[in-house]
Amino acid sequence: MESKHHFSSKIGFILAAAGSAVGLGNIWRFPYLAAKYGGGSFLLIYILLAVTFGFTLMVTEIAIGRKTGKSALYAFGTLHKKSGFIGILASIVPILILPYYCVIGGWVVKFTWVYLTGQGKNVADSAYFEGFTGQTGEPLFWLFLFILFTLCVILLGVNKGIEKVSKILMPLLIVLSCVIAVFVITRPGSKDGILYYLKPDLSKFSFTAFIAATGQLFYSMSLAMGIMITYGSYASKKDNIENSVRNIEIFDTLIAILAGLMIVPAVFIFSGGDEKALSTGPTLMFITLPKVFESMKGGQIIGTAFFILVLFAALTSAISLMETVVSIFVDKFKTSRSKTAVAVGIYTVIMAIPSSLGFGLWKGISIGDKTILDLFDFVSNSLLMPIVAIFTCVFAGYLVKPRTIIDEVESSGVQFRSRKLYVVVIKYIAPVLLALILLGSILDVMGIITL
Ligand code: PHE
Repeated sequence: MESKHHFSSKIGFILAAAGSAVGLGNIWRFPYLAAKYGGGSFLLIYILLAVTFGFTLMVTEIAIGRKTGKSALYAFGTLHKKSGFIGILASIVPILILPYYCVIGGWVVKFTWVYLTGQGKNVADSAYFEGFTGQTGEPLFWLFLFILFTLCVILLGVNKGIEKVSKILMPLLIVLSCVIAVFVITRPGSKDGILYYLKPDLSKFSFTAFIAATGQLFYSMSLAMGIMITYGSYASKKDNIENSVRNIEIFDTLIAILAGLMIVPAVFIFSGGDEKALSTGPTLMFITLPKVFESMKGGQIIGTAFFILVLFAALTSAISLMETVVSIFVDKFKTSRSKTAVAVGIYTVIMAIPSSLGFGLWKGISIGDKTILDLFDFVSNSLLMPIVAIFTCVFAGYLVKPRTIIDEVESSGVQFRSRKLYVVVIKYIAPVLLALILLGSILDVMGIITL
């Protein structure tokens, strides 16, 4: 067995974890939720939740990983014998998400390629996206490419692969986000969109908005998928977990807010202030935005920069997912990292095919109104993740007790400054919020509310 890999520096760890956190959720989902649920008031609630709820859950996962040096599969059971089942549940989540996340990753590679080769005009046609995803061979080709690249990074190892790639891509991602946001907000007519995005509109704020903000945050910080446990297991004992989490949180929230600043005003200018153009769901990124770029002077260049940005965000998230799945199987079967990684790569390809074909050849197969991809998404994101997170709170708050987590944070010789906040949130606030998210998902699928 090869020795366990580690991040070589604190900044490497922070950038890799931020790379996982910053993903499609930040760039595509956050802006449209913020626009839908009251702009400034949504942003405020989101930030407040990030520094309390998100912070607490992320500290917990990283501390569990670092203390045990194990993946989610065995980390819980190592600290508390009867809690081994939480590890099994937590491990199912990334195993389910990885394949379909790569399907969307493949679409992003395709769109980046189209823009890079100067054919951005073509994708501005409404029928283009469905035409593309409805084919059999082409989406599969881009999907393989995306998986192959992700696998290569994993094969290079934790510090030579994941850490190196994150150190290059994450700073570029910040630069690209700033450039695109500045470009958009300096366009004539952007003022209304900026105001709409940033100005609090309390009339749009509701209980549903609150659940949506909590759910978005929780997904955005890559929680309850075993990812932060795995990355924590590679972190150095010398790192200050509290500071690292604060940095990851700032990174994740900043990119989400910047994404809103590029997307909301741009769509506003294009649609002449019609808010409905923003709430088109998944097609916002692949249909509406290409049209917006097409209508702008310099839009082809900005479109290219935008899809490169999305590609980087999707890649670092997929890398964290694949690494987590690999670490789970290495722990389970005690096989070598590289052999396991190749096997996981093959699994990802095989399992991604049905999700991809669900938009074309296998379009007829659907459960309720959900495509195959939607179904994987629902089971993992809306059901399993909140359940795993609730168990994680009970685990840290009542079984091993907050003291175990606080001791791990302080083991690097620092004081855990927010420990009082931590105890209150992990024991009382987080479980309630998570139960609400779970309830929200169930009511949503029953058609009682729409998230
Ligand atoms: N945090 C990611 C995002 O905001 C979500 C994610 C990460 C999903 C890793 C899967 C794997 O998009």
